[in-house]
Amino acid sequence: MTPFRLVLLLPLLTLTHALALSRTATTQPAGAYNYGFDVHPRVKRQLGRRSALVVQGKKTTAAEIGVRQEIRQLELDKDVWTLYVLGLSMLQFTDQGVATSYYGLAGIHGMPHQTWGDVKPVVGSENTGYCTHSSVLFPTWHRPYMALYEQVLHGLIMLIASFWPDAERARYEEAAKRFRLPYWDWALNPPTGGSVLPRSIGGSSFIDVQGPNGMQRIANPLYTYSFRPLNATAFVSGPWNTWSRTLRSPSSGSPDAQSNNSLVGINLDKNQASMAQRLYTLFAGYDNYTAFSNNALGAQGDSLESIHDTIHTMVGGFGAGSPAGHMAFIQWSAFDPVFFLHHCMVDRIFAIWQTLHPNAWVTPTRSLTNSYTIRRGQTLSASTALTPFFSSENGTFWDSNGVRDHTKFGYTYPELVLVDTAKKYVINKNTMTQLRTVRQAVNRLYGSFSPASLFLDQVHAAGIKVTTGNNKLTAALNRIAQAAKGTTAAKIFVGDRYHEWTAAIRVTAPALAKASSVHFFLSGVVPADPRDWASAQNWVGTMGVFGSAKYGQDQGEVSGGHEVPVSGTVPLTAALVGVVNQGGLESLEEGDAEGFLRRNLKVRMLGSEGEVLGGEGCVEGVEVGIVSAVVAAPWSEEELPKWGEPREVFSLC
Ligand SMILES: *[C@@H]1O[C@H](CO)[C@@H](O)[C@H](O)[C@H]1NC(C)=O
Ligand SMILES: *[C@@H]1O[C@H](CO)[C@@H](O)[C@H](O)[C@H]1NC(C)=O
Ligand SMILES: *[C@@H]1O[C@H](CO)[C@@H](O)[C@H](O)[C@H]1NC(C)=O
Ligand SMILES: *[C@@H]1O[C@H](CO)[C@@H](O)[C@H](O)[C@H]1NC(C)=O
Repeated sequence: MTPFRLVLLLPLLTLTHALALSRTATTQPAGAYNYGFDVHPRVKRQLGRRSALVVQGKKTTAAEIGVRQEIRQLELDKDVWTLYVLGLSMLQFTDQGVATSYYGLAGIHGMPHQTWGDVKPVVGSENTGYCTHSSVLFPTWHRPYMALYEQVLHGLIMLIASFWPDAERARYEEAAKRFRLPYWDWALNPPTGGSVLPRSIGGSSFIDVQGPNGMQRIANPLYTYSFRPLNATAFVSGPWNTWSRTLRSPSSGSPDAQSNNSLVGINLDKNQASMAQRLYTLFAGYDNYTAFSNNALGAQGDSLESIHDTIHTMVGGFGAGSPAGHMAFIQWSAFDPVFFLHHCMVDRIFAIWQTLHPNAWVTPTRSLTNSYTIRRGQTLSASTALTPFFSSENGTFWDSNGVRDHTKFGYTYPELVLVDTAKKYVINKNTMTQLRTVRQAVNRLYGSFSPASLFLDQVHAAGIKVTTGNNKLTAALNRIAQAAKGTTAAKIFVGDRYHEWTAAIRVTAPALAKASSVHFFLSGVVPADPRDWASAQNWVGTMGVFGSAKYGQDQGEVSGGHEVPVSGTVPLTAALVGVVNQGGLESLEEGDAEGFLRRNLKVRMLGSEGEVLGGEGCVEGVEVGIVSAVVAAPWSEEELPKWGEPREVFSLC
């Protein structure tokens, strides 16, 4: 178990990061890989086949199922990494008019609001994309979307592998078979000295690759997508109709704006503890699919979608005193290459959650928003077509029931497989074994900021061996309490119970159009300039509001959940444990913590141009409730905490 690591929440602008950025500025823009012959006819044939539009889902044998790796893990598999970089670069240089080009695939989500695969819009929804947000279909719609992207990319990667000379071709073709879409785990403790934002994504605008035609410097396809060319008519309004490439935390709203990936990295690093706590709670404390799935229907709590929203907002950027970049808006986000790494992570969370809650599933609800083929008010169910994702060449579509088992698309995730004695991945069919493995992974990966990890450390330190069922023995509790005397743990636990504290945020109509993020600070002074927030020691966490930008003359209905109230959370427990540890608070019990939070918790909100909304605190349309819940700690890594009913203790806004 990783030790409780509250003290490590420091901004990490590494030297290598800074160096990479300064080098970039003085280098000629790099381009595509030169294969030594004209690859375009081959690529065109590959992407133009009618079957290229169908999301193939017939994989059944273990041999056909590969493991989607974390991006830093994939980078260690050098041949696959080379193929991935070349494949993504090739995809980005394909003709934007082709449905399975990078532009065509990214364009399914939001802008340019065009018909894909001849799947027509319903009347009144022409000015939206196909994506479903604030909807029970949020997790399931994005699953075949990622599978389609993976399939197109995989096809190009197989093609590229065939370009190697005889002596090496077999090796690269073997590597190409291994390729699956990587995910980016933004809640994982980053490697020592590194940032949550991997260097491969934000470190440099170019990359040196040893391809089939030798070593060449090409544009880093994970750093930005350059429109070829930008269609200013399609993107309707500024600054998006002037930015010729995707930007993160842009320096300004002008055409020559630069990304600031260092700032994005700092913000992500500061928020990692918050993201890990939110994920840990989502896995352990949410068992209702409707609430789990999206940011609108969970009344007053967290959701997969809200957690995902925060990453969109952070990567797009805020607080820099200029407009946010592409990732921060539903309509433009999919053009930033990081989108697909992020959504692969979202799909992984969904798959892990499904394993923990195998019986929870889509139940019929009314759609609160419209998308390209869905009308507001329409009933959505597990058999609603997930357009435009074809399941066959005769025009049938995938639905949520059809995508419930992700392995039919030929992939799975590291936590959902076992490694057998031959060091080969096998699909784990034994439900009990799988549950234990997955819970262990969740504890190991995301539990280190929770008091649960502190309790597990105590159980281990006291030498108590427990298996599910035979625990909670009075004698064991006494031994733990004896060993904990005088430590922080003694103040946090009553038996094996502790209090979780959460800020539950709900953003409603008056604030939806302008709010981009809600930030919390504990004790001390909140810096006046939001650019100083990321480095403020009293900063606790952020919830991002991922919406649609207002654009053009149509200020009315635009895609996504932007007219719909959205909820999310920022966990306060780890920060409070830190205060207990420093002697500033007696315990996490309501009698102690409520008064402390009333006196010391501060909230600030930012608008989409980085401006502070409402001065020092609350804004009309943003409700913030401070919620506590009694939680039973796990006695082994094979268990997760058990949450009691959350209770709003007071209202901050
Ligand atoms: C640019 O976008 C407009 C509006 O969507 C479209 O009509 C036009 O065909 C596009 N131009 C090109 C060159 O793709
Ligand atoms: C990026 O943001 C950091 C932190 O605010 C700042 O120090 C740095 O000057 C910015 N870099 C650029 C190139 O704007
Ligand atoms: C899940 O939550 C929704 C919304 O609160 C509710 O309508 C539904 O009955 C719940 N489902 C189950 C299985 O409890
Ligand atoms: C379409 O194809 C699917 C799968 O190949 C098949 O099950 C279905 O019967 C076909 N439907 C029609 C209308 O041909």
